[in-house]
This record gives sequence, structure tokens and C-alpha cells, in this order.
Amino acid sequence: MKLLVTGGSGFLGSELVRQARAAGWDVAATYRTRPVTGAVPLDVTDEAAVEALVARLRPAVVVHTAYVLSGDALWPVTAEGAAAVARACARHGARLVHLSSDLVFDGGRGGYREADPPGPVIPYGEAKAAAERLVAAACPGALVVRTSLLLDGAGLGPQELRPLAAARGELEMGFFSDELRSPVSVRDLATAVLEAAPRAELAGPLHLAGADTVDRYELARLVCLRHGVDPAPLRATLAAGLPDPRPLDCSLDSSRAAALLTTRLRGIREVLAA
Ligand SMILES: NC(=O)c1ccc[n+]([C@@H]2O[C@H](COP(=O)([O-])OP(=O)(O)OC[C@H]3O[C@@H](n4cnc5c(N)ncnc54)[C@H](OP(=O)(O)O)[C@@H]3O)[C@@H](O)[C@H]2O)c1
Repeated sequence: MKLLVTGGSGFLGSELVRQARAAGWDVAATYRTRPVTGAVPLDVTDEAAVEALVARLRPAVVVHTAYVLSGDALWPVTAEGAAAVARACARHGARLVHLSSDLVFDGGRGGYREADPPGPVIPYGEAKAAAERLVAAACPGALVVRTSLLLDGAGLGPQELRPLAAARGELEMGFFSDELRSPVSVRDLATAVLEAAPRAELAGPLHLAGADTVDRYELARLVCLRHGVDPAPLRATLAAGLPDPRPLDCSLDSSRAAALLTTRLRGIREVLAA
């Protein structure tokens, strides 16, 4: 089966490419600024380029991971770029798996299920929520995977480098003890996405996040302990009361995925203890 991964140079995208190739998929991937062997350049803000690539490759499945988190490109890339990918998938009959985020929710209560309405409170969450709406409108059969903080577990992903640097005194930052998330292993997530990808009956939102809810300070401590670094220097801070409000509890309930998929999404305590 032919698979196209947008953002193949990214943390999740590169893991998807690795696992899909190992499983025998015919895999194509894209990058924007960090060239990857075998991947092709693509800027999703260039809709003609998105259309041309999908028309040329004719993938059966597109997994859209490409995005930016902030800045002037936030809306053009994260919201409108997702819509361009969805329109190209619809035109060429490709199955779309769109990667979304726990931060589409307002964080008021946590334990969010697929039927809960998005209510983003930060610009990134607004762009991802808009992307979900645009994707659903252009490509109603698309699967929209909402996930949480991505960790490598054994190695060092972006979410692991910062706590280690802070604990070693190389980075001055605090970690929110009142912001709750459902971190997930990037490997578990990629396996689950590839299991769900060919199953066209799975459409709309699906939560694929880790089984443990932890605050960001506890997560930082767990990362340090996993890598043999003393977590004592880590500083806990509060997100509540910051001038720019943050969603406090965006933990996701992934029980629907547990019932639908064989891939187990481990809790982050288990991932980091392994
Ligand atoms: N990381 C997390 O903790 C987390 C949490 C929840 C949800 N998610 C979701 O998971 C997905 C993957 O996240 P990630 O952490 O793996 O991302 P990442 O490592 O930051 O990679 C982002 C990818 O997007 C590409 N990209 C950026 N701008 C682009 C553009 N204009 N056109 C085409 N491609 C562009 C980048 O290409 P270059 O690097 O080559 O420039 C890169 O391959 C995202 O959709 C994100 O919203 C992530």
C-alpha cells in the first residue's frame, strides 16, 4: 500500500516512515527545511504543490503530520495547509489521517473523549481546531488523530531534552505542576496510526494518547530519572494565573482506541521505566 507522510523530517513523521518501511509499505515522505534521504520537499502553504504531489504519487493513504507550533506561519501552515492536504486527498481518493492535538480542548476538566466539543484557548489550539474543521469539511472520511506530548522513551525527543538540560543547569526553565497531559511514546503512536490508517471505517476524531495523566513537573522528573539525571534541581511552577492563559487539564481518554485497535498505548510511567 502506498503511503505519503507529510512532515517526514519531524519527530513523529520520521518514526512513521521508519515503521511503515519496516512493515513493507511503499512509503513517500516530505520535508520543508531539513532534507531527509528519499523525501521530497513540500511547503503545504503552496496548494498547487500539494495538489501536484498527491496527483503524481497517487498514495492510498496520506498521514499529515506537518505543522508549526507558533509564529506568523501558524495559521497558513497548521490550519490552511491541512485544508490543502485534505482537498488534494479528496480529489484523488486518498485516505487521510490528520494529526491533531489535545490542545484543541479548553483544559477545564480533562479526560476528554472524542465527542467532547473543542474549545481552544491558545493560538496553537485554535489553529489545530480550525484544521480539524477544514479537514472534516473537505474530506469527511478523514481520521483525525488527537494526541498529546510525544516522547521517545529510550532516546531523546524534544520533550526529553529540556528537562535534562534544566536539571543539569544548562537551561533556566520551570515546569508546570498544574498542567495535566497524557504523554505518549512516539513509537506506540506511530504503530497505532499505521494500524488505523488503512481502516476506512474509522473516520472523525480518535484519541491516541498515553494511559497515564501526569503534570509537566512530574513528567520532567520521570524523564530525568529515566536518564540517570538527578531531578532535584528541577523547578515547579504554576500555569494558573499566567497573563496568557493556558489549558490546565487536556488529558485525553483513549478508551475508544483501546477498544478498536490492538496497539497498546502505554502510560508514560511504563514507557519511561522500560
Ligand atoms: N510534539 C508533540 O508533543 C505533539 C503533541 C500533540 C500533537 N502533536 C501533533 O503531532 C504532529 C507531529 O508533531 P511532531 O512533534 O512530530 O512535529 P515536528 O517534529 O515539529 O515536525 C514538524 C514537521 O512539519 C514540517 N513542516 C513545517 N512547516 C511546513 C510547511 N510549511 N510545509 C510542509 N511541512 C512543514 C517540518 O519540516 P522540516 O522540519 O523539514 O522543516 C517537520 O517535518 C503535529 O501535527 C502536531 O500538531 C505533536
